[in-house]
Amino acid sequence: MTYIFAHRGSSKDCPENTMAAFKKAYQDGADGIELDVQLSKDGIPVIIHDEKLDRTTNKKGNVNTYTVDELMKVDAGSWFSKKFSSEHVPTLEMFLDWIAPLPMLLNIELKNNVIEYNMIEEKILQLLHQYGMKKRTVISSFNHYSLVKLRKLDPYIETAPLYSSGLFEPWEYVRAVCSKSAHPNYRSLHPYIMEGFKQNNIPIRPYTVNSKKWMKYFFEWEIEAIITDYPVIAKKLLQEGPPDQKGRFLQKWW
Ligand code: G3P
Ligand code: MG
Repeated sequence: MTYIFAHRGSSKDCPENTMAAFKKAYQDGADGIELDVQLSKDGIPVIIHDEKLDRTTNKKGNVNTYTVDELMKVDAGSWFSKKFSSEHVPTLEMFLDWIAPLPMLLNIELKNNVIEYNMIEEKILQLLHQYGMKKRTVISSFNHYSLVKLRKLDPYIETAPLYSSGLFEPWEYVRAVCSKSAHPNYRSLHPYIMEGFKQNNIPIRPYTVNSKKWMKYFFEWEIEAIITDYPVIAKKLLQEGPPDQKGRFLQKWW
């Protein structure tokens, strides 16, 4: 059965990467949560997608020019709807404290491909250890040097390269960056590539799978997980019936 990861929480119903979005994902029946992590000025892992506060909060400027105390006071919800004005930028620790007792999986995306945050890998591993979350967490990043570093620090942590275009034989690349799974852009997953991942026993969790057609395509291939903004739709579709013939949906438009 394919796991459903809520992308930045249930981000179509709540402001992305806030505790409201994460709690909604749990209520929606998502199996896991994907979230994005950067470091504050004082080096604390905080959950926010952009390097800047401008798009999703009432403040401006780089995340790493604000202390964690300041970030926990910014309004990270009103841009989405006034009713979320009490949402702030959560710390990763606050989030882990909430998720640890719940039966959920976790995908932490390190947003260190634009700004190389000092020691972010060590800090994330320490927090996952502290909350007993290592075995149900996969760490992904577009910065693949960071993934190799993570595996050197902890040979048991699961890592997955994020990538957005058509790599040649990506299952070989996944091994080259010391990972065991991959997080490709869903559009790169031609049946030939799907077959290669399958033959090489590399689990995949494509992003961001929002249409029913693509959801069905991936369910038919019985992949490990999809990352979606619509966990309710994905769960319902999964429960509706047995997988159809492989590739039937993709053949219509490829
Ligand atoms: O981790 C999957 C996906 O979130 C990667 O892209 O920009 O949505 O963080 P982005
Ligand atoms: Mg992300």
